[in-house]
Amino acid sequence: MGLTAGACFADLGHQVTCLDIDLAKIDALRAGRIPIYEPGLETLVTRNVEAGRLTFSSDYSSAAHGREFVFIAVDTPTGAAGEANLAAVDTATTALAAALTPGTIIVTKSTVPIGTGDLISRILQEHRPDGDAFTVVSNPEFLREGSAVQDFLKPDRVVVGSSNPTAAERVAALYRAFNSPIIVTDLRTAEMIKYASNAFLATRISFINEIGAICEALGADVRIVSKGMGLDRRVGPGYLDAGIGWGGSCFPKDVRALEHMAAVHGCHPQLLRAVIEINRDARRSAVRKVRAALQGLRGRTVAVLGLSFKPNTDDVRDAPAIEIIHLLQGEGATVRAFDPVAMGKAARQLGSDVTFAASAYEAVSGADAIILTTEWNEFRGLDWEHVARVMRGRVIVDGRNLYDAARLRAQGFEYYGMGRSAPAPSVGQAAPSK
Ligand code: UDX
Repeated sequence: MGLTAGACFADLGHQVTCLDIDLAKIDALRAGRIPIYEPGLETLVTRNVEAGRLTFSSDYSSAAHGREFVFIAVDTPTGAAGEANLAAVDTATTALAAALTPGTIIVTKSTVPIGTGDLISRILQEHRPDGDAFTVVSNPEFLREGSAVQDFLKPDRVVVGSSNPTAAERVAALYRAFNSPIIVTDLRTAEMIKYASNAFLATRISFINEIGAICEALGADVRIVSKGMGLDRRVGPGYLDAGIGWGGSCFPKDVRALEHMAAVHGCHPQLLRAVIEINRDARRSAVRKVRAALQGLRGRTVAVLGLSFKPNTDDVRDAPAIEIIHLLQGEGATVRAFDPVAMGKAARQLGSDVTFAASAYEAVSGADAIILTTEWNEFRGLDWEHVARVMRGRVIVDGRNLYDAARLRAQGFEYYGMGRSAPAPSVGQAAPSK
């Protein structure tokens, strides 16, 4: 997020320095290597480095000195109790305090607990006699991994929060060129908009996954239910794809942090708790389906297609695939995995117990079952005749509802989707209530 924002601001004509304390990252960027897989970012970075508008540094004094704005985009990982861990915000602010020139506006882009803007002001005041000379502005970022550059340059809205209207207006002005609605509000409300937005999107996904589980039990197809709901303008179509649920660096951390904040302040966030629990169930239900189809997992070989938490990124943080692999292994299955870009990062989490294949076909070779965990484009058009030849079994659990169930069943596969297995009505089934 920091690199995307930096490169995009540079592309708008600003002079930008991206700072990180990770020297390896800075060295890689200086050598023209982008440390993450993010479509479009490399071109943008190269163009702006060549134009002399974008530089990289690991030195606070030179990077922060004389700047109009300093954006804090450090991570706020989940702490032991579910809270957002602010250690990196604290360290970065303390280091900045020694380097800032009076008048600089400090902008928080990281998703930070409500009240963090005030905490940053306090840290600056503790470390500097002229701490009042700095204004803190909250400017949460809503970009998605995999489409980060597009999302940054075409935001649905820009949110700016501060107790100082002049500082807020100066930050808002950085985004005027995008012609997007800009909400200017106070610090805490801006911080809350980010949490509420992510929690609401996660809620939509958990909602449709709960409806999916009910669809499975009652013989309906959640994909059509979701389409039918989404066409209602009051509902809208986004974030209603049922499957193995949400993962990544934001939703899991942010929903938990909001739940934690709410509970600590005496609220009873029961909806957020249910959203988290449904997501856990969604991952487990994919494993349950393979277990049931293979009549046990011990000694079985399962191919897992996709490791990143969603397509077009190599991010495996809290990816459903990683947890599913652990669950499969825990029950004695052998896992063969493939992902077009995320295998390097996944290997660091999974170790040597997983066989990483060179292609989807190599992964499914000899497998008793396949679980599709990430809907990468290259998995859409698999040659199923080839797959049938090299697989040992015929079970496919489609964790993202990517495939045409009827077609795969006609080709001899035992297909299971998410929320769409539509069992044939039987005599023993409960009649619908009138
Ligand atoms: C999210 C927010 O969308 C973004 O605004 C915020 O800044 C960061 O967090 P991101 O983590 O990149 O972005 O992922 P997103 O594309 O929103 O998807 C999150 C997860 O939900 C993925 O695991 C995805 O597979 C899953 N998902 C998404 C579903 O299961 N169903 C859906 O309908 C949509």
